[in-house]
Amino acid sequence: MSAFPPQHQRLREAADAARANAWAPYSHFPVGAALETADGRIFAGCNVENASYPAGTCAERVALGTAVAAGARQFARVVITSQQQDPTPPCGICRQALVEFAPALEVFAVTPDGRSARWSLAELLPAPFTPASLENV
Ligand code: THU
Repeated sequence: MSAFPPQHQRLREAADAARANAWAPYSHFPVGAALETADGRIFAGCNVENASYPAGTCAERVALGTAVAAGARQFARVVITSQQQDPTPPCGICRQALVEFAPALEVFAVTPDGRSARWSLAELLPAPFTPASLENV
């Protein structure tokens, strides 16, 4: 774990701003995520839970859907923020959702006091199932 890189501070702020709007009355685990496109645009999301628990959605997939709806399809990195003292890595479903668009994504998870973990998505999701996996079926 190391200090979060200051050059990505805008992403952290966008993730924190989205996290402030998280709807997490069941888990009490608000999460924010901010995706940066290859051309420098930022799209953020928060988790949106539901009384029917499985209908809830993670922050990362809300950010991804928002970005794709705006026409973005190439992403450089994602920053995830939570209130935990340890960085919150993306869940397995979000790793799969992200690899569809960005197999080489850089993934940061940041704590409230600014410590961060950094991974490549390839390291978080080895042997991914991708669009290429559907070829020649
Ligand atoms: N959650 C996220 O939004 N992103 C993550 O990376 C981990 C988990 C949400 C899902 C659920 O609303 C709450 O956190 C507890 O699992």
